[in-house]
Amino acid sequence: MTIEWQNKVALVTGANRGIGLALVEALIARGAKRVYVSGRDTQAIAITVEALAQPSTELIPITLDVTSSSDIRRVQTQISELDLLVNNAGIALASGFIQDTSDKVAQLEMATHYFGPLSLTHALLPSLRHSPEAAIVNISSIAGIANMPLLGPYSAAKAALHSFTQGLRAELQREEIFVQGVYPGPVATRLSEGYDLPKPQPAEVAEIILDSLEQKIEDVFPDALSQHWYQTFKTEPKQLEREYAAWLG
Ligand SMILES: NC(=O)c1ccc[n+]([C@@H]2O[C@H](COP(=O)([O-])OP(=O)(O)OC[C@H]3O[C@@H](n4cnc5c(N)ncnc54)[C@H](OP(=O)(O)O)[C@@H]3O)[C@@H](O)[C@H]2O)c1
Repeated sequence: MTIEWQNKVALVTGANRGIGLALVEALIARGAKRVYVSGRDTQAIAITVEALAQPSTELIPITLDVTSSSDIRRVQTQISELDLLVNNAGIALASGFIQDTSDKVAQLEMATHYFGPLSLTHALLPSLRHSPEAAIVNISSIAGIANMPLLGPYSAAKAALHSFTQGLRAELQREEIFVQGVYPGPVATRLSEGYDLPKPQPAEVAEIILDSLEQKIEDVFPDALSQHWYQTFKTEPKQLEREYAAWLG
């Protein structure tokens, strides 16, 4: 299905770098009408919008920390027209579950990857409901399919986002609001620095996400490693758990 991007208004969280920035660039390349370029660092967002400015797509910088309920309330009043919400913002704190700081890490991971997307989606649903062709994209991770102990609390939060994605999809099916889950493996961004694994560029991942949106693919595994690990999971879920666990040595 072809999406008429020239009529579409999108909001991307965590859009000042990495996959979020690549998504904004891909939306511009497809001729989106307006993109809300959001992030928690006001200056970084302003610089991003200035660097990307061109005549065809209106770019609106928005300060939005997805863990801040006051930011979310403000954004709700700022946006009345929206077709596409991309819950992309993320952090990956290298932590397991047994360190003294684990509960703090877990709370921050859940605030960023689960409660943030949940609250923002709720706040923007009224605007999405006005769209004849609305979509919500949640960027989870292949680490949300089975727990990666090197990033235990991150994995748990991405699993929560995965479950939220499934439930939201079912609830919004009657309203024909499309809900997509994206489950990348390592991508060449700051978040995965230090992991010596094959990584696609964020631009490649962004193209796959938008192509998959056009094809209404609900679950997107945008790279070779996420496809491989998901195949392992489908064949034998315990095997993926064991493979991830083996990285602890
Ligand atoms: N890269 C990978 O290997 C990989 C794999 C699987 C899934 N993912 C997921 O892909 C998404 C994008 O990550 P990335 O790889 O592009 O990483 P990145 O380059 O580190 O970018 C993360 C973005 O999220 C923003 N962010 C973090 N916490 C935020 C918050 N509370 N509110 C608003 N923005 C916030 C960051 O803003 P600041 O500049 O202010 O920090 C940054 O713009 C994340 O959800 C991540 O978990 C990434």
